[in-house]
Amino acid sequence: MSQFSSSFWDIYISVITIVSVVACGIFLKMQSARRVSGSGTETTGHTWDETLGEYNNPMPQWWMWLFYLTIVFSLVYLYFYPGLGSYPGSLGWTQVKQLEDEVADANKQYGPIFEKYAKMDVKQLATDAGAQAMGQKLFLNHCAQCHASDGGGSKGFPT
Ligand code: HEC
Repeated sequence: MSQFSSSFWDIYISVITIVSVVACGIFLKMQSARRVSGSGTETTGHTWDETLGEYNNPMPQWWMWLFYLTIVFSLVYLYFYPGLGSYPGSLGWTQVKQLEDEVADANKQYGPIFEKYAKMDVKQLATDAGAQAMGQKLFLNHCAQCHASDGGGSKGFPT
């Protein structure tokens, strides 16, 4: 599903992405030309500290292959996952679907624990030792960073 009212931006993004990936490949190919043997060491003509010259050698082959691997990875990724305009990717992955799956998993895991407390009324819940212990743990984990471990708060964060 497109986020835009026309397909212009979808195409714009896709073209830039594909052209960039291909351009990286072409650039790599240009840079990985092997040195012609017997031609001596070519320098870039740059020197530092009077005598320190910069050689014009190609990068090591294993390094080049790592770069090629990243290009292959990006193409595989763009095939499976959304990345090119409105193309949804062959796996059909979306952030919303992932969130819904995680929420469903969490409900399955925590639902039975909270079920008992969900039925109690608030006054009864406030005096329940089990609920208090659980609440304290949750507060210390998720809230104490800002509201302090005793709920005392601090500057900018209410008590
Ligand atoms: C990232 C910091 C942060 C965390 C973590 C945090 N809070 Fe807050 N909380 C705030 C700030 C800041 C305010 C004040 C917001 C405002 O006034 O607009 C606030 C306000 C509140 C208020 C309103 C208090 C009042 O007097 O107005 C309550 C209640 C509250 N938080 C409860 C919680 C609970 C429960 C948790 C844990 C589940 C939690 N907060 C986690 C920063 C945080």
